[in-house]
Amino acid sequence: MRTAAVIGAILLAPASFAAPQTTSEEYLDYSVLNTTPASSNVLQADILAAAAAINQQIYQSITNPTQWKKCNRNNAIYRREWAAFSTSEKKDYIKAVQCMSKLPPKTPKDKCPGCQNRYDIHNTGNFLAWHRYFTWAYEQTLRKECGYKGYQPYYNWPRWASNPAASPALDGSATSMGGNGLGGDRCTNQTFYGIPTQAQPLISIPHGAGGGCVNSGPFSDWKVNLGPVFTDVTCTPSNPEQDFTNGLMGLGRNTRCLRRDISAWTSSQWTNDQQVTKLLKSRDMKTFWYDMQGGENAFSNNFMGVHTAGHFTIGGDPGSDFVSSPGDPWFFFHHGQIDRVWWTWQNLDPKHRVNAIYGTIFLANTTAPNATLEDSMNLGYAYPGTITIRDAMSTLAGPFCYSYI
Ligand SMILES: *[C@@H]1O[C@H](CO)[C@@H](O)[C@H](O)[C@H]1NC(C)=O
Ligand SMILES: *[C@@H]1O[C@H](CO)[C@@H](O)[C@H](O)[C@H]1NC(C)=O
Ligand SMILES: *[C@@H]1O[C@H](CO)[C@@H](O)[C@H](O)[C@H]1NC(C)=O
Repeated sequence: MRTAAVIGAILLAPASFAAPQTTSEEYLDYSVLNTTPASSNVLQADILAAAAAINQQIYQSITNPTQWKKCNRNNAIYRREWAAFSTSEKKDYIKAVQCMSKLPPKTPKDKCPGCQNRYDIHNTGNFLAWHRYFTWAYEQTLRKECGYKGYQPYYNWPRWASNPAASPALDGSATSMGGNGLGGDRCTNQTFYGIPTQAQPLISIPHGAGGGCVNSGPFSDWKVNLGPVFTDVTCTPSNPEQDFTNGLMGLGRNTRCLRRDISAWTSSQWTNDQQVTKLLKSRDMKTFWYDMQGGENAFSNNFMGVHTAGHFTIGGDPGSDFVSSPGDPWFFFHHGQIDRVWWTWQNLDPKHRVNAIYGTIFLANTTAPNATLEDSMNLGYAYPGTITIRDAMSTLAGPFCYSYI
């Protein structure tokens, strides 16, 4: 079974990666991969992802044979990059996302007066596990309620880092997730976006060629309903619900256009292959966590991290607002890649990392209790059920059965 798992996985790996070496523990030792790729257009981060795919299968077949009978290399879903989708697959996905935006909200009006559709909601738990569950539930809803037959795509940041506006996901064509915002109608008094704010910027991102409403591609009439909660776009209308204490902040109805300001300045510095590879070589979960999110003094050291950089690669409203950002359908492409990078890091050393956990039970609240594997997560009214963080640690277990190529 062990050999079969390796052979099965190699079929998924890039051609340049056909002769894996295993350590005495049978897993791929990624330090042997620390060489320049044979072909200059193969990303180092993708080679590590291919090694992770093989390791995960070996690990799962050995340590969890019962689960491996149910979910294995033959029936697992393989999530792919948008560029690998055919034209008709892209159109099917776009159609399903448009369908979802017309499904009525399940959240009662008194809990979210502004909710206009099923995915007008974003509550957060422990960052990585919660977003894995959230992205998966979104994929499930597209399939169950909008007749989508495929799976959630991801956006491979380093592949498009030098020119994100030219990527198939953002080029504004009929098979993209919409293009840039209009240059002419950006906030005219805004010359940069500050992280964390304009008034106290630690990092100042110069505005790009966009900034206004998205007017190209299938999402040019897309409506954003909730938020903003934490935005640095100076000319967005404020949300009618501003009260911190009643749980409704940002949840009032504030229907407006989708704005983007695609920033190659951001992506070329912070989501290139070198940055992602460095992240994937993080020694422990704490290092990985902060490198990914740009936490613990990162911004004051002029370090953005891939999570923040991914949000500011499209910028705008609500893309650059962490709390309201799922209102831009591109959110799930970015978080698909966040999940893929976490999955890669986990499975480069699955024995020690599958259950490695860091951070509190709420994103961006460092004084909340530390998360444990037994803490439960739910998606409010957006998706039924409750799982534990432990259930979300492996993409081949818990409610999931997927991998990445
Ligand atoms: C920019 O203009 C908007 C609306 O005109 C205003 O609300 C905002 O405070 C201004 N921002 C700055 C930084 O001057
Ligand atoms: C952060 O978590 C602590 C402890 O659970 C809680 O008392 C506090 O209100 C939270 N802060 C915010 C901003 O949610
Ligand atoms: C939470 O985890 C951090 C890092 O592992 C640790 O330093 C801290 O003491 C923990 N906090 C509590 C309340 O256990």
